[in-house]
Amino acid sequence: MDYFTTTSKASRRAVDCVIVGIYERGKLGAGAADVDAASNGAIQRRLKNGDVSGDLGRCTVLTDVQGVRAKRVAVVGLGKAGGYDVQKFRRAVAAALASISTSKCRSVLNCLTLEDFKGASMYYLARHTAQAVGDALYRFTSMKSGKKRAIMPLKSVGLAVTTRGEATKAKRGAEHGDAIAYGMSLAKDLGNLPANVCTPSYLARTAQKLGRNHKNLQTRVLNEAEMKRLGMHSLLSVTAGTKEPAKLIIMQYKGTTGQKPVVLVGKGVTFDSGGISLKPGPGMDEMKFDMCGAAGVIGTMAAVAKLQLPVNLNVVVPAVENLPGGVATKPGDIVKSMSGQTIEILNTDAEGRLILCDALTYSRRFKPEAIIDVATLTGACVIALGHHRTAVMSHHEKLSDSIIAAGIAAEDRGWPMPLGDEWAAQLKSNFADMANVGGRDGGAITAGCFLAKFTNGLNWAHLDIAGTAWKSGKAKGATGRPVPMLTQFMLDRAGALP
Ligand code: BES
Ligand code: MN
Ligand code: ZN
Repeated sequence: MDYFTTTSKASRRAVDCVIVGIYERGKLGAGAADVDAASNGAIQRRLKNGDVSGDLGRCTVLTDVQGVRAKRVAVVGLGKAGGYDVQKFRRAVAAALASISTSKCRSVLNCLTLEDFKGASMYYLARHTAQAVGDALYRFTSMKSGKKRAIMPLKSVGLAVTTRGEATKAKRGAEHGDAIAYGMSLAKDLGNLPANVCTPSYLARTAQKLGRNHKNLQTRVLNEAEMKRLGMHSLLSVTAGTKEPAKLIIMQYKGTTGQKPVVLVGKGVTFDSGGISLKPGPGMDEMKFDMCGAAGVIGTMAAVAKLQLPVNLNVVVPAVENLPGGVATKPGDIVKSMSGQTIEILNTDAEGRLILCDALTYSRRFKPEAIIDVATLTGACVIALGHHRTAVMSHHEKLSDSIIAAGIAAEDRGWPMPLGDEWAAQLKSNFADMANVGGRDGGAITAGCFLAKFTNGLNWAHLDIAGTAWKSGKAKGATGRPVPMLTQFMLDRAGALP
């Protein structure tokens, strides 16, 4: 997508659609006021007739407005005057784009950036515009045969600004937003692909392709024999019941020298049937999304590599399929992890932690500055936080604070949950060093405590994205989260924010 900035008035720019806003009680935003003046009151007239309104997210598209150079004017409601904020900005831009999504718009000018609102700078307005564009244009159609429904052929997006300084910030914001949208779109695609296509090998090929397409990015893939030699018996226990070969995917991006890397570890269970501890049938299809941690960290890598940020970032993805079978791991089996600690597998459906623990141990070789694992780890996390916030667990307050702050800035929020010996005690085993489950109570936390046993001495945090990585129901599909949060975390480290 091409992004440009302009100081010309809403009515003076010849684009396919100009987006302007109005508030409740009929107060016109800056762009709308200009269009109204240029058109002899075209907007005021429609306000009187009730054809447009200030209700947040309501959008009406006007065509052939006299005195206006744009082919269309999308008039979108901004809600109460004075209460305008970034969330509302995002909703309004999304609504405007949705209402022209099947039109033949090639160019759009967003004038909502001219409004006065709390907190956000022009940088974030431009960035969220670019992310809204990415969301609006995203379709997952690769699995549909026949004619695909048309989507607008958008090529260029303008951002209205008033000063040169703002233009510089807007350009930076749009560039970052465009990269985040790129990473999210990749993460969504990987999540949405069915498990018979998106296998561990497919994830590995995707990572290798990224390595070829981006400067300073290298991908390596370990096979099962290599993992066995490393002693990753916990990881390998999960793949015992399937014919799909497991892979350990390692991506290394070097954007600077003399700096320890950040390591992101993503759970890549391409299908989680539960194994011998089989899951119930209804909704099991959604366990194709159990690799959304992998998708999120690969998507973040894509965004970082596209921006060529001056940071070092490694991504480690343990990729497996969890199926039952004659040679599958059984409840009660005991395995030795790469760390040397033994694990009694009381429930084969608690497989995420079994692959992550070995991936975390493997990652020690990178001497990470910080290490964050990202996983659709527990149903209990969804019970605790719902679908709105990603759970953040860490013994390292500074790290956890910076992740939470990144989530706020990126509008992709996290929320802290505790770790501690009280919960870790639930993981005691009569036969091995630990069990892989700690009972129903505090299930998201005991999962975090399990991983904590493998991260001693590391600056580590755990993100449980079970509630945020995908949507169920009519809008079923991957969300691309937490790519915005993690990219923001990397942008913060790169000092790339204005
Ligand atoms: N992938 C699931 C977690 C999950 C379930 C995420 C539903 C989103 C929606 C994970 O592998 C799992 O099965 N966890 C078990 C753990 C339990 C056996 C301790 C769970 O949450 O039920
Ligand atoms: Mn499971
Ligand atoms: Zn799982």
